[in-house]
Amino acid sequence: MLNMVTLYYFSPTGGTKKVAEIFSSEIAGKITAVDLGMRTVQPESTIGDVAVIAAPVFGGRIPAIVADKVRSLNGTGKKAVTLAVYGNRAFEDALLELNDAVASAGFQIVASGAFVAQHSMAPEVGKGRPDEKDRADICGFAQKVLAKLESAADSQVTVPGNRPYKNSMGIPAAPISNPACKLCGKCSAVCPVGAISLENHSVATNTNCILCMACVSACPEQARILPPPLQAKMEQMLGALKSIRRENEYFL
Ligand SMILES: Cc1cc2nc3c(=O)[nH]c(=O)nc-3n(C[C@H](O)[C@H](O)[C@H](O)COP(=O)(O)O)c2cc1C
Repeated sequence: MLNMVTLYYFSPTGGTKKVAEIFSSEIAGKITAVDLGMRTVQPESTIGDVAVIAAPVFGGRIPAIVADKVRSLNGTGKKAVTLAVYGNRAFEDALLELNDAVASAGFQIVASGAFVAQHSMAPEVGKGRPDEKDRADICGFAQKVLAKLESAADSQVTVPGNRPYKNSMGIPAAPISNPACKLCGKCSAVCPVGAISLENHSVATNTNCILCMACVSACPEQARILPPPLQAKMEQMLGALKSIRRENEYFL
């Protein structure tokens, strides 16, 4: 086991963080966590020799703010394990894009994984994941990563995906606040891109919204929701995946 890893993660609704923490605590005694979703905190330099870098999959890509923040890290002389966490549909070009960003920051990628968590826009898809079987997969992967680190093997990691990456998804609409909203401001505080403000006793959302669902997940009144037509469309598009279980994949 390693003494310490630095975990860089973006996890608007907690699934990515869950997967990354299971993995990190299996490979290291101490985790220094850096939340890339914090507007005020700039990424710090990696403590220890190994970084774990975890991002959710949005439209088969990684969110642009993750790519930008990862590219600005200094990974020279450090190793990295990359994790893309997706909602049981597909991860497409996300892991490749994450690895490109991590490599351009100077890290040497030793292993990569694509793991499933509950879909943040359609919670019936991948419901309850990561579950016990996922935990076993993640821990099994972690043991393989430790063995690779100990053997000093430096084989290149190849992951699926295409360049150029698929086009970034559009943002059809931002979440809205319904009348149950008590104007507590939690949605505004957690927004990673500062898109939400409280104005004239109502919540305003500007076009910076990346539809990450952090505000929906953070609302204590369940008053922050997707506009009902968009929610219905997502459920219709993803509904067939409710009864399908995608398996975790890893690459060493
Ligand atoms: C805007 C958006 C786009 C998404 N696109 C995909 C996708 O292309 N494929 C997929 O399997 N899941 C997709 N998901 C689901 C998330 O990848 C999944 O729920 C992930 O666990 C979210 O991470 P978090 O819980 O850390 O926020 C998407 C979610 C959102 C909010």
